[in-house]
Amino acid sequence: MTSLDAERIRQFATDSARKKLADIEVLAEIDSTNSYLMQSPGPAPGTAKIAATSNQTNGRGRHGKTWQSPPGSGLCMSVAYTFERQPENLPSLTLRLGLGAIDALEELGAAGVELKWPNDLVALNGKLGGILTEVQPKSGRAVTVVTGIGVNVDLPDTIDFGTETDWARQVVDLKMICPAPPKLEKLAGYLTTHLLKAFVEFESSGLAAVAERWSEYDWLQGREITIDTGVGQVSGIGAGIANDGALLVDSPLSGIRRVTSGTIVIAGKRGAKA
Ligand code: BTN
Repeated sequence: MTSLDAERIRQFATDSARKKLADIEVLAEIDSTNSYLMQSPGPAPGTAKIAATSNQTNGRGRHGKTWQSPPGSGLCMSVAYTFERQPENLPSLTLRLGLGAIDALEELGAAGVELKWPNDLVALNGKLGGILTEVQPKSGRAVTVVTGIGVNVDLPDTIDFGTETDWARQVVDLKMICPAPPKLEKLAGYLTTHLLKAFVEFESSGLAAVAERWSEYDWLQGREITIDTGVGQVSGIGAGIANDGALLVDSPLSGIRRVTSGTIVIAGKRGAKA
């Protein structure tokens, strides 16, 4: 398996993204690009560092889940970005970055990619990718955030990820939804461009500016869902997101409820009514 080329990734990013890039590191093999950047010094405020691989051996997801990606079958990439000071409502950053990922994938010709609150990329009702955002321990005013994204590009036909995708029909890769799946460096370059744009826009305008657009890609909208919030379950019909990123659930007994943290444990077909 050939490893990625940092210079090619840089070439696929736009000038304005390149100006913000302090470093791109490609790793032939690594346990987790997120863990790697969480342990590295953060970049200067307003700049970013990238770590990318196609061979991640211990990928991590939200809530202690794993992210599995057989060697060479997908892109595992993390971006460390330093905010000059802590932005308001930092937990909603993942949602803004999800839209950045959509922009990159659409520009690469991927059709029908949707977002499943708060951090999944979905296509053909299956999991195409996921996003994990972590915050480095603070030292001073600046805050370094590490956001990792995993995208399936060309999975082996025999893959079985078990219960990780119990809400979805199947695991999906880019070759199923792109006329010509991109090379990993091109995917990494486009993601770099759009994720950096998302960091910068989030810093100035937060999530509210794009919350309506987010809803256009909301895979849970109109579905019968159950969310495990850690202190109980909330069931109802997915009703979009609020400006602050909370998931709205229309529940038959109590009306619209806000969920700020949780895991979707059941998601049914679209078209359900509260
Ligand atoms: C999830 O599905 O809960 C999020 C998955 C995030 C996976 C990416 S792959 C690159 C980066 N490194 C990790 O260990 N995780 C993220």
